[in-house]
Amino acid sequence: MDRIVVTGNGQLNGQIPIAGAKNACLTLMPATLLSEEPLTLTNAPRLSDIATMSALLRSLGTEITSMQGGKVLAMSSHGIDNHKADYEIVRKMRASILVLGPMLAREGHAVVSLPGGCAIGARPVDLHLRAMEALGAEMDLRDGYVHATAKGGLKGGIVDFPIVSVGATENALLAAVLAKGTSVIRNAAREPEIVDLVHCLRRMGAQIEGEGTSEITIQGVDRLGGATHPVVADRIELGTYMLAPAICGGEVELLGGRMDLVGAFCEKLDAAGITVRESENGITVSRHNGRTQAVDVTTEPFPGFPTDLQAQMMALLCTAEGTSVLEEKIFENRFMHAPELQRMGASIDVHGGTARVTGVEKLKGAPVMATDLRASVSLILAGLAAEGETIVNRVYHLDRGYEHVEDKLSAVGAKIERIHEA
Ligand code: EPZ
Repeated sequence: MDRIVVTGNGQLNGQIPIAGAKNACLTLMPATLLSEEPLTLTNAPRLSDIATMSALLRSLGTEITSMQGGKVLAMSSHGIDNHKADYEIVRKMRASILVLGPMLAREGHAVVSLPGGCAIGARPVDLHLRAMEALGAEMDLRDGYVHATAKGGLKGGIVDFPIVSVGATENALLAAVLAKGTSVIRNAAREPEIVDLVHCLRRMGAQIEGEGTSEITIQGVDRLGGATHPVVADRIELGTYMLAPAICGGEVELLGGRMDLVGAFCEKLDAAGITVRESENGITVSRHNGRTQAVDVTTEPFPGFPTDLQAQMMALLCTAEGTSVLEEKIFENRFMHAPELQRMGASIDVHGGTARVTGVEKLKGAPVMATDLRASVSLILAGLAAEGETIVNRVYHLDRGYEHVEDKLSAVGAKIERIHEA
């Protein structure tokens, strides 16, 4: 299993290009199932999760041609010859559930494995199933699979979510576009990945209004055409790399970064004493002198502070002046990076969904264990400013969501290398 070795090496300076968003690409790819015509995604990220989604779609009958080193995905689902999303693929990646809506909408039936447990929380899919039922489908849970049918096709309906769910909103959208009549999604998620999905579906001929708000209205159509769509920039990768100069000092420009994708996050960086400004090609982040200041953070659905940047923000606050309170409101078990940061000398007190972080002068490198995708990169960020060497184990987590992390960070002066082990 690969490991990554990071050695504290002072300030960072230079430019880092931001890739297309993993969490947008994972909901855009299943849209190919909605049409017999080709759907091409450009600016796609090269990640193991994208490879998993490709394997899943291929298992259903989609043809996928990857071009330009994986940045362009040309997909065609003119014939779906298998309606079962198998456990062996779904267990690797929860986002696999996003084939349920489009398969039901196009074919009237689908069998999809339940995703099972996850390190950061229980993560049930009940809201996805309820959304399909609100559009007239019947759900039968059997042998670890959802057996879904929509005799005569899906019908427009009201999908009223009790809590905001990104995935369930995406699945409801991917289903409602071909349902007969009008559907309304209430308490919908407002994430930029949802807005990007709607823009792509509109290019395919869908009729949708209200993306980016809590109420989305869809007028079902009989069929959808093909399209070419650029994947939106990855705001979580962006936020992650914005924290590198914040933690180490220096100045880094994030090429392709957009302020509107990271508003709440930038407010917290500003409060911590980090300079963030728009630049010609993106966003520039700098910290030249003085310690970071403690700030309190609560994770919320967009446009609030993203839970996917909580671990990375904790790494910054480990050396801030004062005590910060982080509240994780989205997932019930998303502080597993805290004991690993404590191994590096951080002072963190976790009680349930609240972590109190009292800043120390300097962290010290140590061998640590990655437990999930965002936790793994928070350990790398902490290692960039720590004294000595940090060895991050189980980096397969990292490869799910970050392409070429060593190259991108060493390009701005970080001392980081990957150790390949059989
Ligand atoms: C998406 O997950 C992202 N994943 C997650 O990013 C992200 O953390 C999350 O949204 C929140 O922003 C992808 O887009 C592939 P939710 P998703 O449904 O859709 C509960 C990363 O690091 N819930 O918005 O699964 C759920 O348990 C990943 O890239 C139900 O109870 O998240 C959670 O507490 C990690 N029933 C809350 O809602 C359901 O049917 C929000 O989850 C669905 C969700």
